[in-house]
Amino acid sequence: MSASAYDAWVEALLARHLKELTLREVGRALKQLTQDYVQQRDRLKGDAFEGRGKRAAFAMYYGTRHFLLVREVLRRLQAPATPAAGGILDLGCGTGVAGAAWALHFDGKPPNILGCDVHPWAVDEARHTFRDLGLRGGALRTDVARLRWPKGPLCIVAAFTANELSDVDRGKLRARLLQEAAAGGQVLILEPLARPITKAWWDDWAAVFKKAGGRADEWHFDLPLPERIHVLGKAAGLNPRELGARTLWLAPKS
Ligand SMILES: C[S@@+](CC[C@H](N)C(=O)[O-])C[C@H]1O[C@@H](n2cnc3c(N)ncnc32)[C@H](O)[C@@H]1O
Repeated sequence: MSASAYDAWVEALLARHLKELTLREVGRALKQLTQDYVQQRDRLKGDAFEGRGKRAAFAMYYGTRHFLLVREVLRRLQAPATPAAGGILDLGCGTGVAGAAWALHFDGKPPNILGCDVHPWAVDEARHTFRDLGLRGGALRTDVARLRWPKGPLCIVAAFTANELSDVDRGKLRARLLQEAAAGGQVLILEPLARPITKAWWDDWAAVFKKAGGRADEWHFDLPLPERIHVLGKAAGLNPRELGARTLWLAPKS
């Protein structure tokens, strides 16, 4: 991906969300959104993307960070340079950045991306992301548990989504992911480093992924964010340069 394509995407993202909001207002919303996500997770049972401010904050701050994070993780994992034949499936796609980062990881023409998310705003925003990055893709408003999966083999990413599923749905998803990997798919799961968020299930998943030939990692990066996104994070009292995740990875069987 060229630096100019990345810059153009960030510019379009900021222009869209700052049309009716100031950076200061988005900073305040980012603070609230971060508290909801990290400190008061029960609030997620309501609507985490409630209101323009929180949507802008999520798309601008977390969207950009998750894009950079997925891109860097795929590099470090030395993920294959060619996609699975069925393209990319982004589960709980939010603004579509994880699928987009993976599509841009490959040599040659990026594969098609299918995003799915329960939230209508997220689905709409994901379409913007794919279009602004010049990618082929679409997004469906559906629950992961009710998704009609496209034909594989697939590159499947679930970035910061599995922790939002019920225990039952997460269990079913795990079984399906292993099945897809055995059929030639590639699977990448990302979750926050904060242990309490995934405490109930992470170790089991990691053991199962490793047994299937995969790996579990923790990443800590120091990556530069676009200037205004950095400023936004600072304004919300965050440390924008600290970027990390725990991941599970299943590469295609050679
Ligand atoms: C923390 S956000 C992550 C979004 C995106 N993957 C990213 O990395 O920026 C979690 C997303 O999962 C979606 N989500 C939560 N439960 C879901 C479900 N059961 N089915 C589909 N999407 C779901 C939410 O609407 C939200 O967009």
